[in-house]
Amino acid sequence: MSFMAVKGSKDLFGNEILLIEKIENIVKKLAKNFYLEEIRTPIFEYTDVFKRAIGVETDIVSKEMFELQDRGGRNLCLRPEGTAGVVRAFCEHKLFQSKNTRYFYQGPMFRAERPQKGRQRQFHQIGIEIFGEKEAQADFDAIAFPIELLQELNIFDFQLKINSVGCPQCRTPYFSHLKQYLEPHKQKLCEQCQNRFEKNILRVLDCKNENCRNLTQNAPVLLDYLCEECNRHFSCLQTLLKSGNIDFQIDPKIVRGLDYYTKTAFEIQLNYLGSQNAICGGGRYDGLVGFFDPKNPTPAVGSAIGLERLLLALEEKKVAAQEKLLDYYIIVDPEIDYSQAIPLLQKIRTMGFSVLLDEGKKNISKQFKEANKKGALNTIVFGKEELENNTLTIKNMQTGEQKKVLFQDFFKEAKNG
Ligand code: HAM
Repeated sequence: MSFMAVKGSKDLFGNEILLIEKIENIVKKLAKNFYLEEIRTPIFEYTDVFKRAIGVETDIVSKEMFELQDRGGRNLCLRPEGTAGVVRAFCEHKLFQSKNTRYFYQGPMFRAERPQKGRQRQFHQIGIEIFGEKEAQADFDAIAFPIELLQELNIFDFQLKINSVGCPQCRTPYFSHLKQYLEPHKQKLCEQCQNRFEKNILRVLDCKNENCRNLTQNAPVLLDYLCEECNRHFSCLQTLLKSGNIDFQIDPKIVRGLDYYTKTAFEIQLNYLGSQNAICGGGRYDGLVGFFDPKNPTPAVGSAIGLERLLLALEEKKVAAQEKLLDYYIIVDPEIDYSQAIPLLQKIRTMGFSVLLDEGKKNISKQFKEANKKGALNTIVFGKEELENNTLTIKNMQTGEQKKVLFQDFFKEAKNG
């Protein structure tokens, strides 16, 4: 019987892991520059956390969650995204009292979607959430962070699309006008959109079905209904983006698949990723913290970039990560007890070099072959003669140059590089 990874999940190793390490290092550096603290929330939560945050009528909650029951009959769910858990943690630990309320996270998320290129059931997000900042400079940061990450990875051919989905005050009149507009076309909408028409009409606007797209082409847009405050906020964001030299397009169809957004909603797209071209999504969610903790309403904004889509982009650009090299390989004369080489092994490691010790049972030429196979840059021969004279024979495997050095001199030399 052969076992395989579950459909929609993926093993990560080799070049992909090296690229992920590179990405994580950039994320750490950027997090420092943006004054973001790391937060790690559990991979599962009570299902209600997601129902409450994301909205029961969204695709994510209604059909894409991996739900389970624990032995006590409690309903749990693997997190489909990061924001809900961070908001839950923010409220639970009263983090609004902290000095810094800007967070970043990275980790696996789970959605039971139909797998395809760039769409998996287990995927990873790198997200940021900024709490307590109601003005547009925080929206700017939620956009600038993923953009700087892309640019650090030499990805410049992205499109930033922004929109404002307003607040409950501007949405009420808009929804009734949108309903009036779509009512005569209702029967022609796809089955899903007929359902959305009743329960979550905004989502009809970002349906991928071509017929629905045609029907909504000239539909009224929320941008024309924004209240004074939402309008001011949206113009302010545009001014900041222009000032930061970040190109953007206003796209009234960016309504996002999660119900918590207010005011800013945005996506960063990479066209060559095909149908799953949104590499990053985010927006403001001023009502969500208050929804969890009515006594402490707190404005918030954030974004999340998909790691797998980022890897696809790097693959497209043929970016290879720098391979890890083995600095030293210790070859031990089979006639001596190889435990005597252990202090040497430890010492080289404490000096910050990578080193492996051969099994020591094979003849020396076989051990050299092994060193070559492992791509060792240098070998150290540890034999009888070397042991008696307190020396080591070091060979540079690239040039073939070989030298005998005194034990203590080797450490001095290695230290000096
Ligand atoms: P989202 O747009 O649902 O937003 O997901 C963000 C990113 O996660 C997407 O742009 C995509 O790169 C990646 N992604 C989503 N689903 C999949 C999938 N099935 N397979 C591979 N990658 C995927 C959110 O999740 C919000 N929590 C973002 C946010 C943070 N808004 C405010 N703060």
